[in-house]
Amino acid sequence: MLDVQNSLAQPAHAVSVTRREDYAPPAWLVPHTQLDFDLDPATTRVTATLSVTRNGAHDTPLRLDGAGQQPVSVTVDGVAVNDWRIEDDQLVIPLAGDAHEIETVVEIAPERNTQLMGLYASGGNLCTQCEAEGFRRITWFPDRPDVLSRYAVRMTADKARYPILLANGDPVAQGDLDDGRHWAEWNDPYPKPSYLFALVAGDLAVNRDTFTTMSGRTVELGIWVRAADLAKTEHALAALKTSMAWDERAYGREYDLDVFNIVAVDDFNFGAMENKGLNIFNSRYILADPDTATDYDYDAIAAVVAHEYFHNWSGDRITCRDWFQLSLKEGFTVYRDQSFSADQGSAAVKRIEDVRGLRAAQFPEDAGPLAHPVRPDSYQEISNFYTATIYNKGAELIRMMATLLGPVTFRAATDLYFERFDGTAATCEDFVACMEEAGDVDLTQFRLWYSQAGTPRVSASLTERDGRTTLRLAQHVPTTPGQPDKRSMVLPLKLRLFGAESGRALTDERLVLLDQPSETLVFEGLAERAVLSINRGFSAPVIVETDRTAADLGFLARHDDDPFARYEAMQQLMLDSLVAGAMGDTAGHDAVIAAVSDTLANPDLDPAFVAEAVLLPSESFIGDQLATVDPEAIHASREGLRRALGQRLDDQWREAYDIAPEAYVYSPQAKGRRRLRSVALGYIAASGAGDAATLAFSQFTAADNMTDRQGALATLANSDADEREAALDIFYNRYADNSLVIDKWFQTQALSSRADTGAAVAELVRHPDFTLANPNRARALIGAFAANQRAFNAADGSGYRFLADQLIALDKLNPQTAAKLLPPLGRWRRFDPARAAMMRAELERIVAAPGLSKDVFEQASKSLA
Ligand code: PHE
Ligand code: ZN
Repeated sequence: MLDVQNSLAQPAHAVSVTRREDYAPPAWLVPHTQLDFDLDPATTRVTATLSVTRNGAHDTPLRLDGAGQQPVSVTVDGVAVNDWRIEDDQLVIPLAGDAHEIETVVEIAPERNTQLMGLYASGGNLCTQCEAEGFRRITWFPDRPDVLSRYAVRMTADKARYPILLANGDPVAQGDLDDGRHWAEWNDPYPKPSYLFALVAGDLAVNRDTFTTMSGRTVELGIWVRAADLAKTEHALAALKTSMAWDERAYGREYDLDVFNIVAVDDFNFGAMENKGLNIFNSRYILADPDTATDYDYDAIAAVVAHEYFHNWSGDRITCRDWFQLSLKEGFTVYRDQSFSADQGSAAVKRIEDVRGLRAAQFPEDAGPLAHPVRPDSYQEISNFYTATIYNKGAELIRMMATLLGPVTFRAATDLYFERFDGTAATCEDFVACMEEAGDVDLTQFRLWYSQAGTPRVSASLTERDGRTTLRLAQHVPTTPGQPDKRSMVLPLKLRLFGAESGRALTDERLVLLDQPSETLVFEGLAERAVLSINRGFSAPVIVETDRTAADLGFLARHDDDPFARYEAMQQLMLDSLVAGAMGDTAGHDAVIAAVSDTLANPDLDPAFVAEAVLLPSESFIGDQLATVDPEAIHASREGLRRALGQRLDDQWREAYDIAPEAYVYSPQAKGRRRLRSVALGYIAASGAGDAATLAFSQFTAADNMTDRQGALATLANSDADEREAALDIFYNRYADNSLVIDKWFQTQALSSRADTGAAVAELVRHPDFTLANPNRARALIGAFAANQRAFNAADGSGYRFLADQLIALDKLNPQTAAKLLPPLGRWRRFDPARAAMMRAELERIVAAPGLSKDVFEQASKSLA
C-alpha cells in the first residue's frame, strides 16, 4: 500500500502558508497610481507610476508583488535604476527617502492567459479579473487589500477591434490617434485596493438607463454585452435599479459615482466581480430572456446583480484589511442580497432555498477535511477560500446578529459600521464591535462563530410529567481539522409549542439563546400535550436532532405557522422514511404520502411553497445523515418513495399539473405555478405512468419558455423513453449557437438519474462543444457529474478516475477552477472502505501529478490528511 505521509512529504513545490496572526501593516503606502495600457492581445505594455510613501519609521525596501514577469524598466523619481532585485516573485527596490515616484514597465500576453486572472481575452475582448491576487499578474504592485490608492488609467488600443474602452470611476477624456488606434482616460476618485481595479476593451453594445439617487443625483447606468445579446439585458438592468433603490431604503446607502457599468464576459472563474464602478460578470448572471433562461436563472441574475452592487458599500467603500477577513465583505453582502431577494417575492420560499443551498454546499464542507472557520487562520492559496463557509455560513452569522439585535438596532449598528469604517480596510472584529456597541450587547461568546469551524449539533427533547413540560436542549460542536477541542457557542433558537390535539399554539414564539452545553426549560400549565417547533426560520445554522415522532412531524407539516418550520418538519419526516428505506424498511412511506397529500390539497398555501415542501431531500443530503453512504441503496430508497408518492397521489399530481396554460410572465406567482407543475410532472414520471413521456414531450415542444422546456427535458433525461433522445437533439439544435443554453444541455445529462450516466458523461467530454477552457462548460459537465451522488460514486471507481483525469488536465489551464471541482473526492471518509481506497488513490495521483498548481495541491493534500 502506498504510504501517503511519504508521498506528501515531497510536494512538487515548497508549500508556503500565510497566517492571520502574521499580519503586519504595509511598509509603504501608494496614495496614487497611474496606469498606462498599450493594449494588444499578444503583447500589452503596462506602464505603472506609483507615488509611494514610507509608512512609519523603518528601513525596509519597497516590495512590489509580481507573477514572474520581467520588468522592462524600473525608474525612481524619473531616473532609470538597476539596483532592484527579484525575490520570491517580488520586485525589491531600495529607497532612501520617505516619498518617491516609481515607474515600472512590463509586457504581458492576455491571449495566453488561460487562468483568467489578471488581464485576459474572452470572446475577442480584453478584460481583467484581479480579486484576490490577479493584479500582480498585470503589473508590479503591493497587491494586498490594505493598500488603498487613487487610480488614473489610460488605455490605448486598436479602434476597430476595441471601440469601447472602460475602466473604474468616471471617464475623463478620449481621442483618436492616426494609426487606427484610439485612447481613453478614466479616473476613480475613491481610493481602492488593487483587487478592485478593472478595465475592459472590446466591441460591445450598451443598454443604458439612469438612476436618480436619494439625494437627487443622476447616475448613468450601462450594461455592456455583444450586440447580439443586447435584448437579453433588460432583466439585469431592472434588477440593478431595484437594487440601488433597495440599498437606499434598507441600509441608507447611496451610490457615489456618476456612472455605473456592468460588462458581461463568457469566460469567468466566478459569478461576478464588484470592481469599483465597473462590475464584470459571468454572462450567465446577466443574459436572460424567457426563451433561454429559466426562472432559476432570472432569480440568480437579480441576486448576483444586487450582490455586486451592494458590494459598492460592503466591499469597496469599506474593504478587507487582509484576506482572512474575506467574510467581512462576502458574508455581509450575501446576507444583504438574500434580504433583497426575500423582499422581491416570497420570503419563506427564499429562506427555504437559501437553507437548502447551505446544506448542500456548506454543511458537507464543514464536516469534511476542508472545514475552516468563517475567519480562517491560515491558507496556502487564497483562491481556495472563496467557499460556502466564507459566503453562506458568513451570511448566517450576520443574520444571527440581526436576530439578536432586532431590525431597528441592527440598522443602527450597520449605520455605525458604514460611518466609522468608510474609506478603510476593516476586519470582522470591527464589524462585530459595531454590533456590540450599537446593540449594547456582549458578543464575546458569539465571536466563536468566527473562529470555530464545524456545524454545531443541537439535541432537543420534550417530556411531560405532572402537568409540567420540560424541554432539554444540548449542544455539541464537532471536531474539525486543527480544532480538536470546541467550546460551547451561542445558538439563537426560535421555538414555539403547539397543542397536539387542538393544533393551537400553546406559547408565543420565543428566542432561546442556548449558550451552555445543555439547558432545561420548563413550561407550566399547558392545556394539552405539546409538539415542539424549533429553529424556526432556521434561526441558527445548526443541525437539530429531536425525538419527535412521525405523527408529530406530520402534525407540524400541516399546522406549524412558521413556513420554514413547516417545510422542515416535512423534510425530516421524509428523511426519516428515506433513511429507513435505505435499510429496507418502507413502513414510513404512508406518513409521508399522507402529509404530501394534505399539503397538495391545502388551498391556503402558496404554490411556490407547496413545490418546495413536497420535494424529497436530495440523495447527497440523505447520504449526509448516514454513517456510511451507500449510494445505490439511497438511490433505490429515494426512487422507491418517489414512485409510491407518484402512484398513490396520481390524481393530485395530475390536478396540479393540469392547470390552464398561461402565457409566460416572470412574477413570483407565475414562477410558483411553473415550479409546482414541473414537480408534479416529475412525480407523474416517477410513478411509471404510461403517458409520462408523452406528457413531458408535449410540454417540451409546446413550452413558450425555458423553465417549462428545461423542466420537461430534465424529466425526459431521467427516462428510458424514445422521446429522450429526440428532445435532447431538438434542444441541442435549437440552441447550438447559445453557449449558456448548451451548458444546460450538458448539465441536464450529467445530472440524470439513469444508470448509464457515467458512461454518457465520459462520452460527452469528447463532444465537439465540450471544452475545459471555459469554466461554465467545465462546471456544467464535470461539476454536475461530481454532484450526482450515484453516478459519481459508481462502485468500480470510474467516476473518481474520470474526475481526477479532468482535474489534472484542467489544472494546466486554470488552477482556480480545477481546485473548486476537487472537494467531492475529499469525502472518502464517508464511504465504504473499497470506495474510500479508490478515492484516496485518485487524490494521491493528483498530488503526484507533475507541475501541479498550489491551488489543487492544497485541496488535494488537505483532502488526504
Ligand atoms: N468578489 C466576488 C463576489 O463575491 C467573487 C469573486 C472572487 C469573483 C474572486 C472573482 C474572483 O462578488
Ligand atoms: Zn461577493
